[in-house]
Amino acid sequence: MDHPLIQHKLTIIRDKNCGTKEFREVVNEIAELMVYDVSRDFALEDVVVETPMGKTTQKTLAGKKIAIIPILRAGLGMVDGILELLPAAKVGHIGMYRDETTFQPTEYFVKMPEDIASRDLLVVDPMLATGGSAIMAVDALKKRGAKTIKFVCLVAAPEGVEALREKHPDIDIYTAALDDRLNEDGYIVPGLGDAGDRLFGTK
Ligand code: URA
Repeated sequence: MDHPLIQHKLTIIRDKNCGTKEFREVVNEIAELMVYDVSRDFALEDVVVETPMGKTTQKTLAGKKIAIIPILRAGLGMVDGILELLPAAKVGHIGMYRDETTFQPTEYFVKMPEDIASRDLLVVDPMLATGGSAIMAVDALKKRGAKTIKFVCLVAAPEGVEALREKHPDIDIYTAALDDRLNEDGYIVPGLGDAGDRLFGTK
């Protein structure tokens, strides 16, 4: 997304000298700004409203239900920002770890609202690197009946976008930036480092 505010804020969090407090705040701000684009296709319906001047027919959101699904743990950093604009959204959580023998991402925690089949799901994770976690998260949601899924991240690597598109071509991907590549350790370059560590002040 090339909006100047999003690009400006992304540059702030890319800086290795950006501390935990500011990083956390700005990640949420970018996530909030991204909702503007993510919600562009939300359906509207007519509603009659009475202004001080009289009755008029205007537009209101048709009330499609939303759920935000952060991929643990870095995805948590985007939830509050999105909730600022979609305060009625439910929040499901999905946690995965990389199996040390197979190297496959494996789910260890999935807690979803019971009606995910009838909700628009926003799967959120700041970094789309190899795409392994995103693919696994979407697999887990589809297995539980999810039908409409959007993936929202801050920084994507071309490799991750390609992998997610190939496995789940029906998923719309929203990213604030498409970076150059993955390095040999699976980090996005230039990226912003380990998003989870920077959000939570761990190493
Ligand atoms: N996860 C991160 O937090 N950063 C990367 O660059 C890649 C994956």
